[in-house]
Amino acid sequence: MTVSSTIPVERIAKSRISNVDFNNLEFGKYMADHMVVADFKNGRWHEPTIVPFGDMMMSPAMLSLHYGQSIFEGMKAFWTNNGQINIFRPHKHHSRMNKSLDRMCMPQVSEEMFIQSLHTLIELDKDWIPKSEGSSLYVRPFMFAYEARLGVKVADHFKFIIINSPVAAYQTKPYRLKVEDYYVRTAEGGTGFAKCAGNYGGAFYPTQIAREEGFDQILWTDHKEHKYIDEVGMMNVMFVINGKLVTPKLTTTILDGVTRDSILTLAKDMGMPVEERRVSLEEIEVGLKNKTVTEAFGTGTAAVVAPIAVIRMNGHDLEIPVAGSNSFQQRVKQKLQNIRMGSEPDVHEWNYLITV
Ligand SMILES: Cc1ncc(COP(=O)(O)O)c(C=O)c1O
Repeated sequence: MTVSSTIPVERIAKSRISNVDFNNLEFGKYMADHMVVADFKNGRWHEPTIVPFGDMMMSPAMLSLHYGQSIFEGMKAFWTNNGQINIFRPHKHHSRMNKSLDRMCMPQVSEEMFIQSLHTLIELDKDWIPKSEGSSLYVRPFMFAYEARLGVKVADHFKFIIINSPVAAYQTKPYRLKVEDYYVRTAEGGTGFAKCAGNYGGAFYPTQIAREEGFDQILWTDHKEHKYIDEVGMMNVMFVINGKLVTPKLTTTILDGVTRDSILTLAKDMGMPVEERRVSLEEIEVGLKNKTVTEAFGTGTAAVVAPIAVIRMNGHDLEIPVAGSNSFQQRVKQKLQNIRMGSEPDVHEWNYLITV
């Protein structure tokens, strides 16, 4: 892809890249040299600019700090096998961002502004895209209200920013999950489907309790009865039941994960039957006992596929079979990886390629 970018660029005087230990990348520790900043004022977006990454002057009365108009996206860019930059599914991230913005009464961003800013920034900071296998540049577009006013109101002034951070391949041992049967992440009609900051702040407390009890993540359930499964931690959740791929169907309580969508699409390509429907805890408990549930895993941009080892339900630890190299999750993960790296055809046009 090429863009005829008109975005003004103020280059950093001296790159900070020599401070980065690319063999030891802690998630989100290092920020790439530049960022995109655009202002929404007087009812319209002003031209984005690219400036050196750095602190910004903000008012303590800035509305997002008090009333939470703040949303974000999370996506990845990496090198393909033949040396192109691949930004994975930016159009899908853009449309999800606009859904979050709509729910939070924040101004929409045009596809043109989103893609052009992203493309120009990532091309400029291409040296920050790590080269080792599985590593990537984590891309964080976000928006917040910065109008200074204490009255509770929908803000009039917003900033849209994109920052990038090099990250290592995601390594994790299979998750131990705790079914949450008291706290909720969200409720029907709430903001669960939006990627707004408050959803994450509200999840910290129950997640901290689960960690103290020896679990890695929470398996979130419906807010009314705590009988049906929503998501896992900050990922979507999938099961293989009777040889079918089963995942909770999207509602207002579930984030429409880009990885979820990619995996469901690839499952269909691979001839795997797919069911998007309500999934009860009881179905999983019974299915694990009678061995019809053979796999359970989380899906998300960070890990792509994260195997689940244990689910604590009703005071018991339910063990999930270990996912071997022929498991569905391993095969689909490999297929997705092949498409992203350019070693399998990208028939769904997910790769946004920049030739440098
Ligand atoms: C709450 C939540 N659910 C699911 C996901 C997975 O979404 P994606 O596959 O787009 O990363 C994420 C991560 O963005 C998340 O924060």
